[in-house]
Amino acid sequence: MWAADGAAGVRVGILTGGGDAPGLNAAIRAVARSAFAAGDTVIGVRNGWSGLTGAGDLVELRRSDISGILQLGGTILGSSRVNPMKREGGLEDCLGNLRGDGLDALVAIGGDDTLRVAAWLAEHGAPLVGVPKTMDNDLSVTDYCIGFDSAVSIVTEALDRLHTTAASHHRVMVVEVMGRDTGWVAVMGGLAGGADLIIIPEFPLGIDDVVAHLDRRRSRGSDFSIIVVSEGVSMDGMAQEGGEPARTDAFGHAQLSKRGVGEWLAATIEDRTGLETRTTVLGYTQRGGSPTAYDRIWATRVGASAYSLAAGGRWAMMPVVRGGTVEIAAISDVVAEQRRVPAELYELARVFF
Ligand code: F6P
Repeated sequence: MWAADGAAGVRVGILTGGGDAPGLNAAIRAVARSAFAAGDTVIGVRNGWSGLTGAGDLVELRRSDISGILQLGGTILGSSRVNPMKREGGLEDCLGNLRGDGLDALVAIGGDDTLRVAAWLAEHGAPLVGVPKTMDNDLSVTDYCIGFDSAVSIVTEALDRLHTTAASHHRVMVVEVMGRDTGWVAVMGGLAGGADLIIIPEFPLGIDDVVAHLDRRRSRGSDFSIIVVSEGVSMDGMAQEGGEPARTDAFGHAQLSKRGVGEWLAATIEDRTGLETRTTVLGYTQRGGSPTAYDRIWATRVGASAYSLAAGGRWAMMPVVRGGTVEIAAISDVVAEQRRVPAELYELARVFF
């Protein structure tokens, strides 16, 4: 059905799915350069799984296409949240397009949604390997996902800037950051940027706790505070979008940017304490721009490793980062559960509240 494992001169596909993140292009480049070095042909699948549905949208990538992209944010292939598992005929479409284009291997670069589709297609015989990417950094088994360091750097820089304006005006500054169901971006960004309180889904706080903390800080002589809140946090008393159901994407995730936990928290703090309070929602800036050196390096390492897996016909597997090195794991294990912020890390952050 598919070309013999390990055969030279094969056709290797690359796909990027889900939310974009800095470092995707570095990973594309690493897969493609490894493939070119082996004499393979490289095919880009456009716009995530959308590029394998319907008539398909695939394009051959030349050396010139991947030149100068290491430092570029986003993904030259485009991305989407299209979910073939939820589409009538999605499986047949994907398998048909892979075969129709003569792909001998496909490297799927993504987070839990993209990799879940990859595992599903691999179960149905598709020659797939994965690469861990999500600025949320919440895949299990791997210590690291492409995009996380860049996102944390952006949060850190924002907190540095917000400190000076919050101090000048003696205000409370609520900073809403991404991270969906986990608080990795909030806790690491908050630690690096010296947040005075970090609120994440793993360790919920009530509004009374927040008010008491601000009172404590004031009595200690601190006349401004920076609060980092993760977009997925639920707080008692927060209205549910006027009673309407939250909008969801094709994978069933609520669009958290529309929930407005940061705005709600700031308004409630101001009502309860009388302290002048402002909100900054960092939103998509956390996913934009150039990757950090750390992201470029890990994207390069896991990208090259994913190519080796594909060349060896090790389908349904993917490189992961563990203990500072690249190891190999089953995609199904990586998406089996979410990796959540452990208590010891949150306890460390609490020392500085
Ligand atoms: O999964 C990465 C992420 O950036 C989350 O942190 C965020 O909740 C979500 O994507 C936003 O999704 P979309 O790009 O579909 O608005």
